[in-house]
Amino acid sequence: MSASGLGVHEFEVVSNEPAADGLMRIVLSAPELASAIKPGQFVNVSVPGDASQILRVPLSFSCADAAAGTVEIVYAVVGDGTRRLAAMAARETSTAVGPCGNPWPLVDGARRACVVAGGVGITPIVACARMLAGAGVAFDAVVGAQTAGRLWGTDVLEGLGAGVVSVTTDDGTAGRAGFTTDALADLLAANNYDVVYTCGPEVMMAGVARLCHEVGVACMVSMERMMCCGFGACGTCNVAMVDGTYKSCCKDGPVFDAEEVAW
Ligand SMILES: Cc1cc2nc3c(=O)[nH]c(=O)nc-3n(C[C@H](O)[C@H](O)[C@H](O)COP(=O)(O)OP(=O)(O)OC[C@H]3O[C@@H](n4cnc5c(N)ncnc54)[C@H](O)[C@@H]3O)c2cc1C
Ligand code: FES
Repeated sequence: MSASGLGVHEFEVVSNEPAADGLMRIVLSAPELASAIKPGQFVNVSVPGDASQILRVPLSFSCADAAAGTVEIVYAVVGDGTRRLAAMAARETSTAVGPCGNPWPLVDGARRACVVAGGVGITPIVACARMLAGAGVAFDAVVGAQTAGRLWGTDVLEGLGAGVVSVTTDDGTAGRAGFTTDALADLLAANNYDVVYTCGPEVMMAGVARLCHEVGVACMVSMERMMCCGFGACGTCNVAMVDGTYKSCCKDGPVFDAEEVAW
């Protein structure tokens, strides 16, 4: 294991239950990982059940409890790997590579932040909110989903002390009908945020980055790419930068300053 704690960690499933429509919440017992991982970092999980599938599944986390030795991950069931993950029962074991990537940064002197989650981007955003609450940074939140049944985490954000939790759904079944960017535009107009943190579909993060750029507010984004290794060895996860270079999402990211990214 490296000084950063990056290594292969054995885990045991504590629980693995539906969190919302199409979303599962898994809790892993992995004491060293739980102590080492920081909000914004991710793990690359080996999911048993199909020996022909050697690729791990990269997943962020929502809560790491060092005292309990557990890591909570909320994930969307979208394909073969996450379907096999959803089938893992309590007490089953496997391994996770981590902590991978870089954490959300705390911005020097920041006193007020806004976090913006789209879809399952809520997972690292809840971890970010825990970081802000722990550092005494006041925050508001925007949480968007396709429909009411796919929302998760608004009560957690309220419990962490969010000032405002603004909900948007594409179909208007909960909160405001529309996109997270509509709600963020209103919050940016009414508040002086020092920084905005966001994770969700890339088109949404590009919109959040544009709004923040227009009003001169720092914006941190957590990017997603297809990943093979998760630690900088294979070159599959490039993110284009505005200066014409490429950075690896897994090792240089997944968190980037939005101003660096070529949207
Ligand atoms: C750093 C990082 C953190 C992530 N955190 C979370 C998380 O906390 N919760 C969560 O639900 N998902 C997260 N993801 C996305 C998750 O890794 C993919 O949904 C998962 O790998 C899909 O695997 P699968 O075998 O089920 O689906 P596949 O059968 O491989 O693919 C199903 C669909 O998902 C797309 N997909 C596959 N892999 C990725 C990927 N890495 N990024 C984006 N789309 C992908 C495919 O293009 C396809 O449309 C994260 C991805 C990254 C890179
Ligand atoms: S996933 Fe291998 S370099 Fe990023």
